[in-house]
Amino acid sequence: MKITIGSDHGAVQLKEEVKMVLKEFSNMEVTDVGTFGSDPVDYPDIAELVCSDVVSGKADRGILLCGTGIGISIAANKIKGIRCALCTDVYSAKMSREHNNANVLALGGRVMGFGPAGEIVRAWIKGEFAGGRHERRVNKIMALEGMERN
Ligand code: RB5
Repeated sequence: MKITIGSDHGAVQLKEEVKMVLKEFSNMEVTDVGTFGSDPVDYPDIAELVCSDVVSGKADRGILLCGTGIGISIAANKIKGIRCALCTDVYSAKMSREHNNANVLALGGRVMGFGPAGEIVRAWIKGEFAGGRHERRVNKIMALEGMERN
C-alpha cells in the first residue's frame, strides 16, 4: 500500500510516530510531504499536497495531521474525490473504512497521544470497504461534489 502523509507544524511529532506504526506493515510505501520543523505552515497547503497524490493514484490513501485534525480535514474534504475522516477513536477509524470508504485519515497532534493514534492508524490501515448498501451511500456523497451551490 502506498501512503502519502503530511502535517502542519501542530503535529510534526505525531507524524513521526505514525510513520513508525506504518513500518509495522509489509509492502507499505510511505511518502512524507512535510512539514518537518516548528516553523508555521498553512494546513490547507499540506492537505492539497497529500490529497493530490490520492486523487492522482500516486498514493492509495493519505494521512493528514494538524493541531486538532479539524482544519486539515475540512480542507481535504473540499478536494474532489477525497473522503477524509477525522478520527479520535478506533471504532470510528474502522467504520470510516468499512462504511465510508475513507481514503484519507486525519488526526490531531495536540489532542491525541501516540498510543491511541497508533491504534487508530492500525485499524484504519487494516479496514476494508464493505460495499453493498454502503456503496450506494458513498456514491451519493460523491454526487454531492457536483451540486451547484449559492
Ligand atoms: C495551527 O496553529 C492550527 O490552527 C492547526 O494546526 C489546526 O489545529 C487547525 O485546525
